[in-house]
Amino acid sequence: MALRLGDEAPNFKALTTEGEIDFHQWLGKGWGILFSHPADYTPVCTTELGAVAKMKGEFERRGVKCVAVSVDPIESHRGWIADINETQNTTMNFPIIADPDRKVSSLYDMIHPNADTTFTVRSVFIIGPDKKVKLTLTYPASTGRNFFELLRVIDSLQLTANHKVATPANWENGQDCIVVTAVKDAEIPALFPKGARTVKPYLRYTPQPNC
Ligand code: BEZ
Repeated sequence: MALRLGDEAPNFKALTTEGEIDFHQWLGKGWGILFSHPADYTPVCTTELGAVAKMKGEFERRGVKCVAVSVDPIESHRGWIADINETQNTTMNFPIIADPDRKVSSLYDMIHPNADTTFTVRSVFIIGPDKKVKLTLTYPASTGRNFFELLRVIDSLQLTANHKVATPANWENGQDCIVVTAVKDAEIPALFPKGARTVKPYLRYTPQPNC
């Protein structure tokens, strides 16, 4: 059964390139991104893992741990890391789960048989400190993911978890936000000291509250 937003992210124990992990323990009290790639020694995946390694500081700044998974075995992952480091001018700095028995891939429904019967698609799960799924995203094998978009979503999730705002289309950190409809006009001065701009009764903008 597919995981949906708000579901608990299933726990598992797995072997990774950084040793055995219990997923929930490894996540601790922070945020996590679990993402699958179809196979080792493939070009798009090589660029993706290199990109995440280079962006690790940005994820850490937001309290987010990243972990990749594929159905290839640990020896394959270890050999491939040398290629990632060499070709992407980086040093791999986050774990890759070896999932040859497809335990993790099945738990997270990462194999879509009508796309490919063997390999995982490019799934992403953002998991909150409460271990609940906050975002799911699925890309085909032929399209590398935009990890800047994941940072943008994390910024929105962390902001909206703490303030009564939502973020509009193409929002970037620092831009105006939308006052959620549950907030009454009379509550705005107390909740949003920077004020709000009403375009329609249901469309009210406020400067980003945590800036
Ligand atoms: C790739 O990472 O380049 C890739 C992997 C599986 C299928 C197609 C492309």
